[in-house]
Amino acid sequence: MCGIIGYVGGRNAVPVLLDGLQRLEYRGYDSAGLAVAGKEGIGVCRVTGRVAALREKTRDGTAMPGRTGIGHTRWATHGPPMLANAHPHRSGDGRFAVVHNGIIENYQELRQELTAAGCRFESETDTEVVAHLLGLAYRGDLPRAVREVTARLRGSYALGILCADEPGKLLAVRQASPLILGIGAGENFLASDPAAVAAFTREVIFLEDGEMAELTADSVRVFNRAGQPVAKKTDTVSWDIRAAEKGGCAHFMLKEILEQPLALKAALSPRLRDGEIMLDGLDLELSGIDRILITACGSAYYAGCAGRYAIEGLCRIPARVELASELRYGDPLIDGRTLLIVLSQSGETADTIAAVEVCHRRGAKVLAIVNVVGSTIARMADHVLYTWAGPEVAVATTKGYTTQLAVLYLFALYAGRSRGTIGEGAYRDYLAALEALPGQLEQALGMNPGIGRIVKEYARAESVFYIGRNTDYAAALEGALKLKEVSYIHAEAYAAGELKHGTIALIREGQPVVALCGGPAAEKTRGNILEVKARGARVLAVTEAEDEKTIQLADEVLLLPETLPLFRPAVQAVPLQLFAYHAARERGCDIDKPRNLAKSVTVE
Ligand code: M6R
Repeated sequence: MCGIIGYVGGRNAVPVLLDGLQRLEYRGYDSAGLAVAGKEGIGVCRVTGRVAALREKTRDGTAMPGRTGIGHTRWATHGPPMLANAHPHRSGDGRFAVVHNGIIENYQELRQELTAAGCRFESETDTEVVAHLLGLAYRGDLPRAVREVTARLRGSYALGILCADEPGKLLAVRQASPLILGIGAGENFLASDPAAVAAFTREVIFLEDGEMAELTADSVRVFNRAGQPVAKKTDTVSWDIRAAEKGGCAHFMLKEILEQPLALKAALSPRLRDGEIMLDGLDLELSGIDRILITACGSAYYAGCAGRYAIEGLCRIPARVELASELRYGDPLIDGRTLLIVLSQSGETADTIAAVEVCHRRGAKVLAIVNVVGSTIARMADHVLYTWAGPEVAVATTKGYTTQLAVLYLFALYAGRSRGTIGEGAYRDYLAALEALPGQLEQALGMNPGIGRIVKEYARAESVFYIGRNTDYAAALEGALKLKEVSYIHAEAYAAGELKHGTIALIREGQPVVALCGGPAAEKTRGNILEVKARGARVLAVTEAEDEKTIQLADEVLLLPETLPLFRPAVQAVPLQLFAYHAARERGCDIDKPRNLAKSVTVE
């Protein structure tokens, strides 16, 4: 979850590192630091807090000349977010500086051993053991020393390594943590993510587990664990760097909410041609599949919860959704007739990767629905459908989530069509509903100013309940998560019919309840609205324009354009995201970088 970057070339390294770190800040932001190889050895600068402070401390790089360097932005795992724990970490003699993303699981044993050998530790991190081990292993051959050291590490790591004795060189090594190389002219880069180097080059190499790269200004050499050279292919990243900038919005989150109609268009339009669905040459044989398991974490999991209804409803294959963090330690009933659908915006979530490994080993076919091209999950899967949402920077996912829904809907309809479980008329209706979704999200965005006003009544609440049934319940789960993560208001989503089994005890005068009400079960949800109102709740209903009965019952209403019930979560997402966004703004929260979170959860 930390972000790492490295540069070797003809420019002053620090401005390049700062630019990359700024773009990587979504991965963690509790401290930042960099190291540069200069005439006097390795210089290090670290700060607690954000990259902006590092920029100030290095005076935009003018205070730290040098053409080879590494940088880091941290999301604390081992040791609190304080200066001593900020990366880079150095070996005792100062000859090595190391930045690290991941977790060294056996660091305590190594630390004991190194302490006994006379090493003095300055931090509580797992990373520092790597710097000390390198200091002891190095005898003039850097790749060899790195191989020797990594052979002793257990866990996950993407490492950027700088050695004072070889100042024009960087070493990069990867095990279960993302790492790419950026290939420039007379300069080269390493980074956690292509976005970090996209301002300088679009040519990237994705390292695989166990691979190590040696970078100079003019050369990039990649080796396997045994030290043998590996021929790697270079990919061209097509993302427009401007898409990762705020473009006039106060926050990335708002910008990304507003981008959803376009993002959905990008996910859907190229795949809807002449009244048929074309899934990027997907050659999945559905006749061999008798169950579907969907797995993911966080919002992607909630997209799976909503998508399950579409899959079961349209292609009539039993489908179940399981949290990746649970699935990885379970004993799932999976075989060659199981299709695992894995959802991930980043494609780098550690628990999700582990769940895919477990299911793969048991013979499941894996279809990944992923946003980041070339990410680990995209490369592990047997089949990939990209969501084409473009870079998502805000920690709270918005367009990442709705494009996952769009692709799940596409897949469900495609599978229903090819299995013959959906009639021609219904197929045409669903297709039309799918094509209408981007426009409907646009319409829903029209509620933005109104939600900004309504939210004032709710922003001081200590907790908010979200209720709904079926797909409305799935949408409620995501709505509650959005509110929690950006506004820090406690929020719970409940299947509306479950309230009376216990949770209704918490409803008292003035308790805000967001009720998602629509579809065949709307009458029943209205019953639940009455129940909570009878106990003093203040109800904000999210429903469709024609739903007069619900409009009469609620204290406030958000009216959405009408779509088919299976697709409603995509439209409902918009007001729920805006509600969370405005509540967070009202409360003065750090919207794009909520406390304790990081965009890409690459640790377990
Ligand atoms: O990159 P992924 O989609 O795999 O990420 C999964 C979750 O970590 C992510 O959705 C998280 O819950 C977001 N912060 C929610 O906004």
